Amino acid sequence: MRYTIRIRRFNPEVDQRPRWQEFTVEMEPTDRLLDALQEIKEHQDETLAFRRSCAHGICGSDAMIINGINRLACKMLLKDLGPRITVEPLRGFKVLRDLIVDMDSFFEQYRSIKPYLIKGGEPPATEYRQTPAERAVYDDTTKCILCAACTTSCPIFWANQTFVGPAALVNAHRFIFDSRDEGAEERLEIVNKRMGVWRCRTIFNCTDACPRGIGVTKAIEDLKRALLYKKL
Ligand code: SF4
Ligand code: F3S
Ligand code: FES
Repeated sequence: MRYTIRIRRFNPEVDQRPRWQEFTVEMEPTDRLLDALQEIKEHQDETLAFRRSCAHGICGSDAMIINGINRLACKMLLKDLGPRITVEPLRGFKVLRDLIVDMDSFFEQYRSIKPYLIKGGEPPATEYRQTPAERAVYDDTTKCILCAACTTSCPIFWANQTFVGPAALVNAHRFIFDSRDEGAEERLEIVNKRMGVWRCRTIFNCTDACPRGIGVTKAIEDLKRALLYKKL
């Protein structure tokens, strides 16, 4: 079947501003959008720039705006997108080239919440133990692949990129509610800052955008409750 893919392109070396370019490709309806982009790159325009790695929804590198919604190109089947498809880079980050955005600030926000186990004392001879019930408390937020689809769909982030963003908050949740971790107070203090968790206005775009089905808004609400009621 024939698909028309309309791509928002930008080459900082020659373009004053972004421009749209259309490509027509013959693909199977069960192919993914990532396959179509690859087809264009291999057979029509090798200068088309986009990130991808795993092609299976795991690495988080090919988040983009597809028909107006943040999605992973490797998880979208062409038959679900229709014969005319628009593709744009994620909103809120500087576009480096075509569909590639500068994610340095995103990873800086991620690092700011200390996304690693904080534990004092001597490590045990075996592993740190945890019951299935203790693990279940933060199971959902362990699924994050840092694709940035949530943060770049949040209107609060569009207005102010110093907002720590839902992705960093999801990862703060992942450690704050881990029974083995001892850094909860430290991290809660970080997310309690002016551009932290309270900037969230419960808009839910982040939850709708998450390709891993994480309850992003719920995780943020858990953090707010932990701060308000000091209940972990
Ligand atoms: Fe991507 Fe979901 Fe993680 Fe946000 S929470 S970065 S949308 S996987
Ligand atoms: Fe933004 Fe999600 Fe909150 S879209 S306002 S972070 S619920
Ligand atoms: Fe890895 Fe899509 S290419 S998530």
